[in-house]
Formats: sequence, C-alpha cells, structure tokens
Amino acid sequence: MRILPVSSGKGGVGKTTFALNFALSLAKSSRTVLLDLDTGTSSLRNFLDVRVERDLSHYLKQGTALDACRQGLPRAMDPEGAFANFSFIASPRGFVTDMVNFSPEVKARLIEGINGLQADFLVVDMKAGLDHNVLDFLPLSNSGILLFTPRLKAATASAAEMAKAVLFRMLDVMLSAPMLRASLQAEPDGPRAAAFRRLGEFIASGGDGSGRNLDDLLGEAASELPDDNVLRVMRYYVENYKVYYVLNQFNSVAESVENAIKPFVEAVFRSASSRLSFHNLGWVVEDEQIRRSGETGVPYMVRRHYQRQQAAPAPIDEDARLRAMFGLAPARPQPEQKRDLARELSGQLDLLRRIYVFNAGKDPETNLDFIAARARDLSANSVHQFGMKRIFSAAEFLERFQSQLRPSPAPAGD
Ligand SMILES: Nc1ncnc2c1ncn2[C@@H]1O[C@H](COP(=O)(O)OP(=O)(O)OP(=O)(O)O)[C@@H](O)[C@H]1O
Ligand SMILES: [Mg+2]
Repeated sequence: MRILPVSSGKGGVGKTTFALNFALSLAKSSRTVLLDLDTGTSSLRNFLDVRVERDLSHYLKQGTALDACRQGLPRAMDPEGAFANFSFIASPRGFVTDMVNFSPEVKARLIEGINGLQADFLVVDMKAGLDHNVLDFLPLSNSGILLFTPRLKAATASAAEMAKAVLFRMLDVMLSAPMLRASLQAEPDGPRAAAFRRLGEFIASGGDGSGRNLDDLLGEAASELPDDNVLRVMRYYVENYKVYYVLNQFNSVAESVENAIKPFVEAVFRSASSRLSFHNLGWVVEDEQIRRSGETGVPYMVRRHYQRQQAAPAPIDEDARLRAMFGLAPARPQPEQKRDLARELSGQLDLLRRIYVFNAGKDPETNLDFIAARARDLSANSVHQFGMKRIFSAAEFLERFQSQLRPSPAPAGD
C-alpha cells in the first residue's frame, strides 16, 4: 500500500475536492481508500452525499476494525460499479474533543489502523494547518502531496512553510537520537556539543532571523567537524528530500510560474534549503463543474464518467443492418483476438500524447487521470520513495536513522 496524504498548509485551496477526485481516478485501476482525517469538519461528508454507516469514531471508540469502517459508493451513484475499487472512511461530524486534537494514544491507534489497511493506495484528506495533528501523519521523509493554487498568494507561502516544517521535523527527530545525545553528553563543553546545540536551536525555532538557512548551518557545522557521521547522514537526508506538489485552480502556465511555482521554490530555498528537489505532479484547472459538484454531493469524477456514458451514441451494428437488408446469415462470431503488444503500446502512446496536448486545456478529468498516472508511476519507482508504505512512528524512524550512523565496515584490501 502507498500512503498519499494531501496537505496544503492553508485551508480552502481544494484539498478535499482534490483528494476525493484523485482517489476516484486511482480507483479506476487500483484498490483505493480515501481516509478523512479532517476530523471536526469532515468536509468530505459535504462533498459526498452518502449515508455514512460507520466512521472513524467507531474504530476509535467502539472497537470496530478500521477496515470495517470503509464504505463504497451507493449503487444509485455508481450503477455500473465503475468505481467499485473506491472506498472511503469518513470522520465523525461535529466536535468530539479527543478526535479534533489527537492525544498521543489516539494518534498511535490511528497510525496502527492505517498501517493495517489492505489497499493499493490510501489517500488521506488532511486538516489545514501546520500543527502536530497534521505533521504526525505525514511521512518523515517527504510531505506526501502538497496542494496549492496560483489563485491565492498566501496558499503558496503556507505550502512552502509546510515543506519546510516536514523537513525540520525530520531533522529534529534525528537530533533526538539517543546515540547522538549520549555522545554529546560525554563532552558537553566540547566543540561538537556546541555545534549541535546551535543546529538544534536553529531547527527548533525554524531559523534564527539572520537570513541563513539550513544549508548554511549544516555547512558551518561540517567545516568545524569535517568527519562527523551524523552531519553526513543529515545532509544526505536533506539532499534526498523530495517535494511533490499539485497546482489546483490552474489557469495558465505563465500565471502558475509567476504566482505559485517561483515564489514557492524561492521561499523553500531561502528559509530551508536549496538542496532538496521539487516534483510537479500536474495541475487541475479551475472548473465550474468541479465547483458545482461540491454542492450536489456527487463527486466530479463520477458525474463525468456517467455523463460521458450518456453522451456516447448507441453503437449501431452496421454489419447486421446490411446483412438483414440483403437477407444474409448473421456473421459468425470471430475468435477472440490476442492482445497485440504493438497496438497496446501505441494506445499508451496516444494516451500520453493526449495528456500532453490536453493537459493544459479545460478538462479536469484528464488532469486528474494524468496525476493518478504519475502517482502510479512514481510509486513504482524505488528512487522516488513516493508515498510511504506505512507511517513510521518517530521511534521507528530513529531506529533506521541510527542504523545508518554506524560506520560501514572498512573495505577489504591491503
Ligand atoms: N479546481 C477547482 N475548480 C473550481 N472550484 C474548486 C476547484 N477546487 C476546489 N474548488 C472549490 O473550492 C472550495 C474549497 O475546496 P475544498 O473544500 O476542497 O478545500 P479544502 O482545502 O479541503 O478546504 P479546508 O481546508 O477547509 O478543508 C470548494 O467550494 C470547492 O468546490
Ligand atoms: Mg477539506
């Protein structure tokens, strides 16, 4: 299973809309679960006019298995079962204190439930904000899918804050490693302890107002401690940190570059690091049908699917018509043809061309299918580690980090 949290920092940029329709697009060919972690608001329930039988509170308070809290689209909404691979887990309506501010126990139980789900993809609709209710459900090495929009400058700034917060949190967890703590305590007044203290303070307060970023701090520490293994591994993590993002309410390349991508990358470089990498998964255009589907309770992707079915003319069997006209016997059924690799490949290529040509156009369905195809592709690519296979607790993450700190055995030789 790949876990893909959709977060934004700022509210109202289209997380729920995107998470829902993206999950539906993935579900066209993969088992996909949409989990609503926007507890307290549960706007998913406003976008999806479905009677909810069980929600997260049944899992957290009544001992129902999380898997049993999933439900699919009702037959009336999806008569052909075109989205049979889609299911969702709603969060309860209304304010339930311990479900709005997750206690450590609730958090641990949620993570346990999430890690036990059986699916190909788990898309998580997150709350807005940068607090621990959000950060603790994001993978420790990348931020899942970040959504922002060229329509709202403030959304770009807060998406950059989000990317930075996830990175800094990861480094903060590293600095708490018992192995490191013990070695610093052994020589509390030494230059190494001083360098790590400076780094720790910088990370904990998200910068020091001097205009320096993480690269400067890590660089300074490394020049004082050139052979330090912890610094080497930390720098490695920063360099391999990847930010995946989607632009919502896209309306032109020029506007997106000017109002979103450029300020976003600049802000991350300035306040965090210029060593990490950015990956644009695609965009979703601003669209009236998407906006309206928020009001009707039928998701855009479902509506589009059935609209197209209706619009397609009934196939006319021209051969049968002519045969009947001339009194000929009905055609014998042809033996089933083998799938032709060249034809299949050329079909795939046509699809790709269509995506490239039309993706900038006014069709959000193509946009969403394109992003789903990219997500599938990236999650199959081990270099990317896109979408974590499970949510690591800080303890699990530390264990892995510490195992990387142990010096590798010296190469054999003379
Ligand atoms: N591509 C789009 N085109 C048109 N309208 C859109 C698009 N994306 C989102 N919207 C509309 O923007 C509004 C906000 O979307 P949504 O509720 O999904 O945002 P959100 O980030 O989940 O908000 P919150 O932070 O409150 O959970 C909704 O009315 C939705 O219909
Ligand atoms: Mg929402």
